[in-house]
Amino acid sequence: MATNRTFTMLKPDALENGHAGNIIQMITDAGFAIKAMKYTRLTEDQAKKFYEVHAERPFYGELVEYMTSGPIVAAILEKDNAVADFRALIGSTDPSEADAGTIRKAYAESKAKNAVHGSDSDENASIEGEFHFSAAEVF
Ligand code: RTP
Ligand code: MG
Repeated sequence: MATNRTFTMLKPDALENGHAGNIIQMITDAGFAIKAMKYTRLTEDQAKKFYEVHAERPFYGELVEYMTSGPIVAAILEKDNAVADFRALIGSTDPSEADAGTIRKAYAESKAKNAVHGSDSDENASIEGEFHFSAAEVF
């Protein structure tokens, strides 16, 4: 995957609270093109692997439980400077610290249930995109 792509998930709270449509609108309004998208639910093994980097953190168990608690929307997005621009669009991990106009400020419930994931590097964007999509599912 090129450096102009990032990977996102609309997390279970976003879907449960009915925010999926508005969040996708914010993403496309910000200039991101959708290269791949699916509505799915993570298995426990998938959630553990996806957030393996946090395995030693106190919130890991809670995070895996939350990410498997309901369906998600996974997507690959394309835009110049995609990783950094998407992190700016989603805002701080904790919505109480997120800037006005960000997705988390508008739609996140809490620091744990924060509506949306965004890759933190080009390398992880590529790994995460390939984790969820086969080559034939990316357009
Ligand atoms: P993400 O990876 O989902 O885009 O979020 P992030 O980079 O902003 O935050 P990160 O530090 O990577 O944490 C991953 C996810 O773990 C949950 N979390 N809970 N209870 C807590 O203190 C806590 N801290 C983090 C959040 O769902 C966070 O997005
Ligand atoms: Mg992260």
